[in-house]
Amino acid sequence: MDSKLIGIIGLGQMGSGIAQVTAAAGYKVVAREENEELLKKGIGRIAKQLDRAIEKGKATEADKSSLLGRISTTTRLEDFKDCDLVIEAIPENVELKIAAFKTLDGICKQSAIFASNTSSLAITDMAAVTKRPSQFVGLHFFNPVQIMKLVEVVRTIMTDDQTFGNAVKFAESVGKTVVRAKDSCGFVVNLLLIPYLIDAIRWYENGLTSKEDIDNGMKLGCGHPMGPLELTDFIGLDTILYIGDIMFDEFRESRFAPPPLLRRMVKAGYLGRKCGRGFYVYEK
Ligand SMILES: NC(=O)c1ccc[n+]([C@@H]2O[C@H](COP(=O)([O-])OP(=O)(O)OC[C@H]3O[C@@H](n4cnc5c(N)ncnc54)[C@H](O)[C@@H]3O)[C@@H](O)[C@H]2O)c1
Repeated sequence: MDSKLIGIIGLGQMGSGIAQVTAAAGYKVVAREENEELLKKGIGRIAKQLDRAIEKGKATEADKSSLLGRISTTTRLEDFKDCDLVIEAIPENVELKIAAFKTLDGICKQSAIFASNTSSLAITDMAAVTKRPSQFVGLHFFNPVQIMKLVEVVRTIMTDDQTFGNAVKFAESVGKTVVRAKDSCGFVVNLLLIPYLIDAIRWYENGLTSKEDIDNGMKLGCGHPMGPLELTDFIGLDTILYIGDIMFDEFRESRFAPPPLLRRMVKAGYLGRKCGRGFYVYEK
């Protein structure tokens, strides 16, 4: 495992988590950002996570320095030429992702596997612009990556068995449990979760009951740790709207259609916890 080099494009919220769990599993990592400042920020996020683990007695200073020592940083995609696997975690914009994979295709060795961490875009759209569509998968990690146990490993109709098997092995080797999925919009988790959240917003909008009663109903009646409106605030109303629109475009089924209230709240800037107000108001 130690000899494998894993490239990570984008050292934001997800990319830094993926880099951390990958380096923790013993892999060498090369991470790319747009500039040195963003690289510093990404590495800083990982260091802070590790400091917290040290405070809790779950890691030592030596663990931290050896983990960070396995992550090198760069602003040049050319430094990905020896990677065995490249995981993309740049913003959810298909043009940006396609441009990155087109460039990488000309740089990376022939055997390298490409993976996207997209939550809602079609893996096929990205795989199809490369000369290695059979070596392309989705590796959908969950946020926060260090804590969430799941990775959805996604195959398109072009992905070959060996690539898919290696992608599953990789996800398991970084300590995750794998769910296998076809390249269908929302994969498994969002396919089931988004209509549920949208339905809760729709019933709240229709005046079924209060937001607290909707959330308590699902927490106390079903044992969920968060109610659907609390969870929507946690994920971000803009994110739910964005994914709902993409899923509705794909399936044309009303259960995926974002309700008017969600759209109005996003327009009003009520994006959830991250901005202090969504369905609930949060202390800054
Ligand atoms: N945030 C989540 O909860 C979550 C969960 C699962 C999947 N995802 C997916 O992961 C991806 C990244 O999301 P995020 O929340 O980490 O976003 P983010 O904005 O925190 O990070 C993206 C990073 O990519 C960098 N970047 C942009 N273009 C780049 C390029 N060409 N090369 C290298 N770096 C580049 C940006 O500077 C930024 O730091 C998205 O596709 C998103 O849908 C997000």
